[in-house]
Amino acid sequence: MDINALLLGKIFNRLSPASLNPFLLQIQNRLQSYFPEGDPRQVVACLSSPQLLTRMKLLRDEIIFSEPLLHSFCPVWSELGFDLNETFLDAIRIRCVPDKFHENVEAKSVSYIHRDPWYANPQCQLNFWIPIYDVEKGAGFSIYPPYFKKAIPNNSDLFDYQEWLELGGFQSNKVFSDRKQIFPAPLYNLDEVDTVDIHSRAGEMICFASHHLHGTSPNRSGLARFTLEVRFVLRSHLESRVGPKKLDNFSKGSTLIHMYDLIRHEPVPKALIKHYEDGFVPEKSRQDS
Ligand SMILES: [Fe+2]
Repeated sequence: MDINALLLGKIFNRLSPASLNPFLLQIQNRLQSYFPEGDPRQVVACLSSPQLLTRMKLLRDEIIFSEPLLHSFCPVWSELGFDLNETFLDAIRIRCVPDKFHENVEAKSVSYIHRDPWYANPQCQLNFWIPIYDVEKGAGFSIYPPYFKKAIPNNSDLFDYQEWLELGGFQSNKVFSDRKQIFPAPLYNLDEVDTVDIHSRAGEMICFASHHLHGTSPNRSGLARFTLEVRFVLRSHLESRVGPKKLDNFSKGSTLIHMYDLIRHEPVPKALIKHYEDGFVPEKSRQDS
């Protein structure tokens, strides 16, 4: 795989590294153990929202903190051509998108179109998206390649990573009377032309630059969708300050503070975070100065 092409916007769809299958089997087994009533994709519809959130939090934490699971996933990176010695990982995160979630107004923010950097993710971040079971056409997510080099008015200037963490991060169940989480999104409806519909079978995965504009599709499949999302950066990209231009990202903070290297499990050095983030000034500020 041409890794540098990723930062120029190339999308590697339907990758099928052989080492993904044994890892996926372990994830399916763990998932099944949290939904013993039957097929997890069907059981979700029978649970209340708090019940589902509780199960998913326990499972999510188990996967994030499991050394054996991480160990089992490392060959996937290697097989795709990534050097484990220079990879910093955020987390292997499981996600559940219930059937018809898009009809629930409280879940509206889940489907917001966005770039991950609007949520303080680094400009050079790469993402894997891995369906745990088959995901049919139209039930995965969409990428909007025409916007890779095009700025979009958005409210990422309201996003502060520190505040986001205090309010509970993603899938937060904390409620504050005086403060609300900000989910950055475009300020107007975009032209949905030349979008790429991302869906695939279990055993396949996609790799793309998180700067790509993307958003979850409505789920009308009749089944809950379980996926894994893996966000990571490469040391060489941080050192040489490469990545898509900061066209329209005005978020504050950096999720690099939580990333750690796969071999030594050490965090990204603070000096390297500063070196990288100082190299990326929003285009608008450049024009203003
Ligand atoms: Fe995203």
